[in-house]
Order: sequence, then structure tokens, then C-alpha cells
Amino acid sequence: MLFDNVLVTGGTGFVGKNLKKIRPNWVYASSRDYNLVDTAECARMYADIKPTAVIHLAGLVGGIKENNSYPADFLYKNISINTNVLHQAYEAGVTRVLSCLPTCAFPADQKAYPFDEKSLLHGIPEETNLPFAYAKRCLYIQSNSYRKQHGLNYSCFTSSNLYGPEDNFDSEKSHFVAALVEKLGNCNHGDQLEFWGTGKPMRQQLYVDDLVKAIPFLLQHHNTDCPLIVSPDENLSILRMIEIGLKICKKDVKITFNNELEGQHRKDGSNRMFLELVGGYKFTSFEEGFKKTYDWYKRGMRN
Ligand SMILES: NC(=O)c1ccc[n+]([C@@H]2O[C@H](COP(=O)([O-])OP(=O)(O)OC[C@H]3O[C@@H](n4cnc5c(N)ncnc54)[C@H](OP(=O)(O)O)[C@@H]3O)[C@@H](O)[C@H]2O)c1
Repeated sequence: MLFDNVLVTGGTGFVGKNLKKIRPNWVYASSRDYNLVDTAECARMYADIKPTAVIHLAGLVGGIKENNSYPADFLYKNISINTNVLHQAYEAGVTRVLSCLPTCAFPADQKAYPFDEKSLLHGIPEETNLPFAYAKRCLYIQSNSYRKQHGLNYSCFTSSNLYGPEDNFDSEKSHFVAALVEKLGNCNHGDQLEFWGTGKPMRQQLYVDDLVKAIPFLLQHHNTDCPLIVSPDENLSILRMIEIGLKICKKDVKITFNNELEGQHRKDGSNRMFLELVGGYKFTSFEEGFKKTYDWYKRGMRN
């Protein structure tokens, strides 16, 4: 089924801005247009836009520091936004909502890696982002409840850590790859750069273009209660990613690790179900994606 009026909530965020580059005709809403914590504003959004399908990206999103400092906001705002977006979609007669979950909603301790979709609710998420993770789990359960009770195609996909152009490079809020780009972009030959932990943990990093190219396909074809994991094949150590970054920025700097806040050793999710649905997918290598992101960042600094 082709949808003629697609609404993207969170349309002004990192993912939304990149999606707009390939689907400029969709409608992209921000919190300034409609504060989705507020039920009446959310209902007004549906009345104004009259979408036939919704891609739900809006939420209060942040790194460990923000999650740790504002746990009440992360729980209340995300639960409210998700509840409003799905229930008001139902009230407005919208039959298709595709929502985005993060891999941090999955249990922190997994029996095996890469973990798969079936494990989503089978264990406790990482302590540092419990409120955010549980709000996202509720989004998953809410989608499936509306699917079951009302026969609507409300489904979810899960994205692993993202990086790329338009990411948040503010050192107070950024995730690892954006922080690495920012550090390498601003340092000089001979500098010493310190990183958290030991460099040994392994992480999957998904180039944002790879996710946004998959979203239109998922909107058309993902019609099950499976929280499909979209994750790259590569699972690299922090040290390896830093080495790749150093090769690309061509700066001669000394790297040290402070052995603090190490984080989980690995948290990679399996993309097997996603690949089965999409029928094969070429992911951008970390080296290629980092180079594109670094070049984009440096161009912005020059402008
Ligand atoms: N970034 C990642 O690494 C990552 C990884 C996995 C999954 N995800 C998921 O991907 C989705 C998008 O993430 P992102 O990185 O694009 O986030 P982001 O850059 O922080 O953008 C958040 C978006 O949500 C909107 N928003 C926030 N509060 C709102 C409110 N009260 N009412 C209406 N809109 C509100 C923001 O609008 P304003 O611009 O007006 O503030 C913005 O458009 C989220 O569901 C996130 O969990 C992200």
C-alpha cells in the first residue's frame, strides 16, 4: 500500500533531517509546531495534517549524562509523547504508524550475542537509562496492543547507535562517534586526547543514511509485531574506531584512556530478520561513514 500523506514526528531531529533529504514531500513536525506531551496539541496535529501514515521519531533523546540528570523528564515526556501519538492516531483513523526504538531498550545482560528481537522484554535494560528504555518498551507494547485489539498496522523497528551529518556535536550531549568527530576536528598535531574507559568495548554504529533509506521500505512492508533490528554488520572496538578516525583526519595525536565509565563490553543486535525482510542490504562501512561525517563537520566549520 502506498501512502499519500506521510507525517514524520520528530522531523527536525537528527534522523528526521536526514530522512527529509530523501523524502522531501513528507510532512516534518517539530515540538514548536505541536508539543506532543500535550494531548490536545497532538489531536490538533492530526486534525491539521490528516496523515494516512505516521513515522514516529519524536522524543526526548539524550546521552548518559542527560538521562542520569533528568530521569523524571525522560520517563514522563517520552511516555506522554508516545501515548498521545499512538492513541490520537487511532482516534483520527490512521491505520499505519511506524515507530523507532533504540537498542538500549533491550536487556543489558544477554545470554548470547548478537542478541535478537525476541529478547526485548526478557531482562532489565542498562541502569543509566532505565526511564528512557521503559518508555520505549511501552511504545512497543502500545503498538502491539493497538495492532491486536484494533487490527491496525502499528509496528516498530529498532535502530542501533547512529552517527552521521546533522548529529548533535555538542560535547555535553553527543554520543561517541559525534564526540570523536568533534575532538578530532578541533585538535592539533601533537595534542594528547583522553577517552573514557579502556577502548575495548565493541559497538555497532549505523550510518544514518543506512537507516533513513530503510524507513520508506519498512513503512510499506513491516507489518508484524517484531521490533526489527536495523544494525550494521560491523561491531568494532572503541579503539579501532578511534584508529579509523585518526587515519581519516590525518592528525598526529597521542591517545590515552582514563579507565573510567567503561560501559558494557558489547551490545550488538542481529540484523538477520531485517535482512530477511529487505532481501539484502549494503551497509556503509564505518571508515566510509566516518569520512563522510568528518568531511561534513569540517565543511560546517569552514562556513
Ligand atoms: N540518535 C541515535 O543515536 C538513535 C539511535 C537509536 C534510535 N534513535 C531513535 O530515533 C528517534 C529520533 O532520534 P533523533 O536522534 O533524531 O533525536 P533528536 O535529534 O533529539 O530529535 C528529537 C526530535 O523529537 C522532537 N521532540 C522532542 N520533544 C518533543 C515534544 N515534546 N513534542 C514534539 N516533538 C518533540 C524534537 O523537536 P524539536 O527539534 O522541536 O526539539 C526533534 O524533532 C528517537 O525515537 C530515538 O529514540 C536514535
